Amino acid sequence: MRLVLVGPPGAGKGTQAEFIAAHLSVPKISTGDIFRANVSQGTPLGVEAKRYMDAGGLVPDEVTINMVRDRLAEADAADGFLLDGFPRTVPQAVALDKIVADMGAALDVVLELVVDNDEVVRRLAGRRNCRSCKKIWHVEFDATVKPGVCDNCGGELYQRDDDKPETIEERLRVYARDTAPLVDFYGAQGKLVGIDATGTVEDITIRAIDALRSYGS
Ligand code: AP5
Ligand code: MG
Repeated sequence: MRLVLVGPPGAGKGTQAEFIAAHLSVPKISTGDIFRANVSQGTPLGVEAKRYMDAGGLVPDEVTINMVRDRLAEADAADGFLLDGFPRTVPQAVALDKIVADMGAALDVVLELVVDNDEVVRRLAGRRNCRSCKKIWHVEFDATVKPGVCDNCGGELYQRDDDKPETIEERLRVYARDTAPLVDFYGAQGKLVGIDATGTVEDITIRAIDALRSYGS
């Protein structure tokens, strides 16, 4: 299955992507994770991306599209993938259709995680990520036994630089302006399926898998 997850910052894309990709046996490809890995390694791509990420803006389309094209050319993505955080603009969506068509395939479905702004602000403000295994936690909604230490691997937890209140506001503005139009774009293609992304992580995973069942998952 070739699947795209869309939804505002903090909707739970990364959290759900982990479970859904495992269920579908496809690789999870998160552009945010790839940019963050480049930032921490200090690559030229990371240096460029960090300027935009820290300001809550989007990395330019050309840079992002080339990065995704290269990633989708890897062998593990040949038979399916789950994209988290891409596309995020209409030009990226148009480019993705072309990349996938060049692979002799098409996207199957775009799953929209629907959640309101107050909830995403609560989720982002308390988010913590593990430096080692990358698992996503929340100080209140999904807390580790020992604060600051990952239950999964014992790694150190950190707060993302772009989870500061001013940056969160800008990311939400950018989402409404640049990314929300994808709902209409994929709706017009008949590929959009929206689910309520409030409730427990487990309930949302079940809702997502149910919604994908009619697409052969
Ligand atoms: P990216 O990393 O993709 O950030 P984002 O879209 O802003 O999304 P988040 O990762 O913040 O949220 P999420 O939906 O994954 O939520 P999560 O599961 O963590 O991108 C970062 C930056 O990179 C962008 O701003 C941009 O600069 C750049 N970039 C990336 N892709 C790009 C592109 N295509 N084009 C251009 N630039 C790009 O959950 C959030 C919190 O909520 C966690 O703490 C979690 O534990 C908690 N939580 C999850 N589910 C629940 C629940 N059901 N109940 C309670 N809490 C929950
Ligand atoms: Mg994420």
